[in-house]
Amino acid sequence: MRTGSHPPGHTLGLFQHPPLPEGTRFQEEVQRFLAEVQRDHVYPGVNTYLGNTVLHTLLPLLQGAAAGPGGPPPDEQRVQMMEMFQAHIRRRAQGRLVDYFERPPIQGRGVPETVFALSQGVSDCLRWRGVPLFKTVFDLGLYPRLLADLRPRTLFECGTASGGGALWLADQLAALGIDCHIYTYDLVKPDLSHPGVTFLQGDSHRVQEVFPPELLSRAPHPWLFLEDAHVNLDGLLSYVHPFLDPGDYLVVEDPESGPVGGEGARVEDQLGGFLWRHREAYRVDTFYTDFFGYNASCAMDAIFRRM
Ligand SMILES: C[S@@+](CC[C@H](N)C(=O)[O-])C[C@H]1O[C@@H](n2cnc3c(N)ncnc32)[C@H](O)[C@@H]1O
Repeated sequence: MRTGSHPPGHTLGLFQHPPLPEGTRFQEEVQRFLAEVQRDHVYPGVNTYLGNTVLHTLLPLLQGAAAGPGGPPPDEQRVQMMEMFQAHIRRRAQGRLVDYFERPPIQGRGVPETVFALSQGVSDCLRWRGVPLFKTVFDLGLYPRLLADLRPRTLFECGTASGGGALWLADQLAALGIDCHIYTYDLVKPDLSHPGVTFLQGDSHRVQEVFPPELLSRAPHPWLFLEDAHVNLDGLLSYVHPFLDPGDYLVVEDPESGPVGGEGARVEDQLGGFLWRHREAYRVDTFYTDFFGYNASCAMDAIFRRM
């Protein structure tokens, strides 16, 4: 659990077990998890990989543990798997929308850092329409789900880079039949055009010039506000905060990076400072942050629903 006015960062073990909320029993949580796996991961003739793992490996392990000592001891890999599922089951007992400061801080993610390092491509970096886009394969799975659920009317992106991310998001929105316009800026504007995207030149230190109050006041909601420049984060979020409506989503990519551009405070600490002042206004939506395992996305602890 994070404490104080600034979160201390990710310092504890990967499979830290948060205490169960009062009134919750672990065995009941296990049963709830197993029922949901049966519902969402087991289909006629085909199971997901998770479905198979839970049915054929985890369940026998849990049953063996409940029966007490007797059988052969499980190997290290299986012990790790049981640890991982136990941590997952305890975390989900916190509910879907979680206070940022109640998220158990961990070292790294629920997927190995080596896997994460490969997740933007090895033979080449991921591209869309030939343009590099700096997302991971996890994010390519997550964003379409978030877009389909939220059906945003406006998407803001800070940090366009080559523009592949904005083009890809615009094409996803169009494929989903969502009437949404994207505004994106960077220090240097890429030479691209797309009917669903306004490419702008701007600087996160002067965000009010590129996203002026007139634009923010009239942009239709719900919004997906995507911060991906990692600069002046506290200042930028403090400026945008009054314009966000309940139900809007705020995503901060790479919060563990930095400090960027000579700024003193790490991005994560700037985020913590902002959230501490607006604690009740934002909740981490763990459905998305933990969809592929704990924090398996660019936006560690940082996919927020505006409450
Ligand atoms: C991680 S990249 C963005 C990736 C992009 N959103 C995507 O999905 O492909 C970060 C970008 O932030 C931009 N950036 C750095 N400092 C900035 C500033 N002060 N204002 C605006 N953009 C900045 C960099 O030029 C860089 O292109």
